[in-house]
Amino acid sequence: MMSAEDKDVRIPIEGDILATNTGESITLHQKLGNGAMGQVFLGKLNERHVAVKTEKKALGLIPLEVKLLLTAKREKFTHFCTLYGYGKVSRAYNFMIMSLLNSDLYQLRMELPNKIYSMNTTTKIAIQSLKAMEELHSIGYIHRDIKSSNFAPGRGRSSTIFIFDFGLSRRFVDGSNMKLSPRKNVGWRGTVRYASLNAHKQLDLARRDNIEKIRIDDNCELSYTGTVSVTSVAIMAEQGSNNISIPE
Ligand SMILES: Nc1ncnc2c1ncn2[C@@H]1O[C@H](COP(=O)(O)OP(=O)(O)O)[C@@H](O)[C@H]1O
Ligand SMILES: [Mg+2]
Repeated sequence: MMSAEDKDVRIPIEGDILATNTGESITLHQKLGNGAMGQVFLGKLNERHVAVKTEKKALGLIPLEVKLLLTAKREKFTHFCTLYGYGKVSRAYNFMIMSLLNSDLYQLRMELPNKIYSMNTTTKIAIQSLKAMEELHSIGYIHRDIKSSNFAPGRGRSSTIFIFDFGLSRRFVDGSNMKLSPRKNVGWRGTVRYASLNAHKQLDLARRDNIEKIRIDDNCELSYTGTVSVTSVAIMAEQGSNNISIPE
């Protein structure tokens, strides 16, 4: 039950100082991203610049993100942020602290004069994103919200691209590493504009759906601006069209 104290807790904002699980203090600076699910701030932890993702606790996606980043650390993955800590604000908000990346791949493309990556850059991004997804798949999870704003290069001179935003991720194997059988009528997850054909048909998603999205990004993202209706894409899929021309 919500206590009187919880009801008064406001959303974390710039200037707030939060206490982490290890008793350290993290100061929130300006917002880096305004996601659909929460907000990401630039933060300062022991003189180190970091990213701090916050969400209303009722949403409940950050615990999964924390779990996956802890696993990634154990597995010595190279395309995942380092987790520096996490915590709660008066039981009303969750937050997690991770390494600070560069702007995401969507923002970086929008900063280009013609808003298009060169073929060379596109190829490098494709290879790096596939490696990032391969790491996630190797621990039995699919991402289910693959899009350019969920990938970003590291800061500095590294050419590694990192994957993040695991709130919608889901296991695709069971405890003994056997592939789970697809569920029927799974409802909607993801982002309409970037979803795979199976997602639009509301079928259970699998590793291939992440890959399909890359194909659509490479071929279509630069040219289409409209939001695709769920049914029109499902119909095209039904007709077996590979050559999807997305209506504006
Ligand atoms: N570690 C990070 N470093 C820098 N920017 C980040 C980091 N994580 C997220 N962001 C920025 O915040 C945005 C929203 O974060 P994300 O985890 O994708 O949340 P949402 O679930 O709201 O989409 C990202 O698209 C990116 O621009
Ligand atoms: Mg996101």
